[in-house]
Amino acid sequence: MKIGNKYYQSIWVDESDPLAVKVIDQQKLPFFFEIKDLRSVDDVYAAIENMTVRGAPLIGAAGAFGIYLATLEITHTTNIREHLSNAARYLISCRPTAVNLSWAVNFVMDRLKEKQPASLTKTALGSAIEICELEKENCRQIGKHGLKLIEAISKKKKGAPVNILTHCNAGWLACIDFGTATAPIYEANEKGIPLHVWVDETRPRNQGAKLTAYELGQNGVPYTLIPDNSGGHLMQQKLVDIVIVGSDRTTKTGDVANKTGTYLKALAAFDNKIPFYSALPSTSIDFSISDGLKEIVIEERDPEEVTNVTGFAEGKIQSVRICPEDTVAVNYGFDITPARLITGLITEKGICRATEKDIKEMFSNKFS
Ligand code: MRU
Repeated sequence: MKIGNKYYQSIWVDESDPLAVKVIDQQKLPFFFEIKDLRSVDDVYAAIENMTVRGAPLIGAAGAFGIYLATLEITHTTNIREHLSNAARYLISCRPTAVNLSWAVNFVMDRLKEKQPASLTKTALGSAIEICELEKENCRQIGKHGLKLIEAISKKKKGAPVNILTHCNAGWLACIDFGTATAPIYEANEKGIPLHVWVDETRPRNQGAKLTAYELGQNGVPYTLIPDNSGGHLMQQKLVDIVIVGSDRTTKTGDVANKTGTYLKALAAFDNKIPFYSALPSTSIDFSISDGLKEIVIEERDPEEVTNVTGFAEGKIQSVRICPEDTVAVNYGFDITPARLITGLITEKGICRATEKDIKEMFSNKFS
């Protein structure tokens, strides 16, 4: 995606400095555009934990590059296998909900299994880059499939703008490039289909206000920022034609874990008969689980993200408290939208219903 006139991915390795993994610092956006260097496993862990990098596919890619950096930490006294599996465990433990993190770390670890010490670094770097390319292609395909939904609505509305509601940031920042939920939007916008996006602010961290609004603006997509609680009203007023969100982990039966608040949007969409889609690559499907509510671990984050709001004032990023001192707050990062509320899943292989049967038909090779 372009920032100004320059193409960026949200993670990469520069040939001029291959010992560093470069990322766009998402803690600073949209106020400052800064690139950060990650040079160790600890740097990667910290970047995932403090959400310098975030979004399911991106934290997967970051974890994969973390294993690459772990190979650079090997010295002649290192017990190599122990060092790498400790790094893998450590990285995977960083955030529990998005399945992409463990998937990507394990992908690289598998590739390293039979390798001689001399080729570990090259193999790990190659595998991490392969994951980035795979996720980019997944998003590109999601865009092409999802475009058909927007085209159909546009036709029905005789060219009047298609109103799409999205939650959080399932955009290119979260996904290396294109995004998952945003890929169909970018495709449609590029084709000249009139559209408009309702962007949920996405409390507590405001990824919608800070990141999705930034991305859409940079790419010339018309959008309006709304408080999280306005979606229901807009749907009742027929101002939403389709909801497209991302996913951090989807069960093989089609339950979707996504940023907290997604479930309420799905309920409102269901009540108003508005199509509700989750756009996700198969790397976000956990083919080992069936029941989202019972089996997906929901990350609990620092309550300070709820008691405080971070924004920009007097030339710097600042955090201010929005409640009485000593207020007890709780901060569940994600929620589960049951498959029955989901119209369909937009995947790299096409669109399917959120049922085990349809998911199995689409990804038969991934079912054991
Ligand atoms: O906590 P985050 O910002 O890492 O959460 C991830 C998300 O932005 C979403 O839940 C998103 O819709 C899925 S990631 C493409």
